[in-house]
Amino acid sequence: MSDWYETLDGLHAQAWQTLRLGVGNPQHPARLPSFATVSPDGWPEARTVVLRSADAASAEVSVHTDLFSGKVQSLRANPKASLHIWDSEQALQLRMKAEVSIASGADTRLLWDKIPDHTQQSYGVTPPPGSGIDTALDYVKEPDPDTFAVLTCRISQIDVVHLGDDHRRALFSRDNNWAGQWLSP
Ligand SMILES: Cc1cc2nc3c(=O)[nH]c(=O)nc-3n(C[C@H](O)[C@H](O)[C@H](O)COP(=O)(O)O)c2cc1C
Repeated sequence: MSDWYETLDGLHAQAWQTLRLGVGNPQHPARLPSFATVSPDGWPEARTVVLRSADAASAEVSVHTDLFSGKVQSLRANPKASLHIWDSEQALQLRMKAEVSIASGADTRLLWDKIPDHTQQSYGVTPPPGSGIDTALDYVKEPDPDTFAVLTCRISQIDVVHLGDDHRRALFSRDNNWAGQWLSP
């Protein structure tokens, strides 16, 4: 029997298994992807986020954020993002390209009500995230459902690299029904 990294199907399945583990396990490296957008003036901008959901059937993952954060402004101008994960235990790098939709207000209220109090603290700060302040703690955090946003990332491509004794790389595309294509690493 072959190891998971030896076949395209195996690599694709492992990519989604890794994303699922990231959602479920706070210690897993896939829990904290780098999430990159393009600023309105064309700069790449990457930041750490928590992976909140991963659904292989729809090939969508989601992230929660503050509606007034810079990334939301960037996504309004250009709804494309990239997510990056490096899992050293599995020697597995995942890079995903995604089209992102932004939900907030009434559309996210049911989800907001299920979020634990301490996590709600992450959404709602005055002045808004990224504003200049006079001293380091010159802000007030007040959980506010109106500042809570869900970024649904509809993945269009997954570039998978496995650094085993041999290096393997494959590209999986929605356009190709995720069939997969080996790439030179
Ligand atoms: C471990 C860790 C987890 C984070 N998780 C999130 C998150 O889930 N959502 C989020 O919007 N920001 C999260 N942040 C903060 C972002 O990295 C970033 O600083 C913030 O969202 C502002 O980014 P922006 O101005 O580019 O929008 C996290 C930061 C760290 C260090």
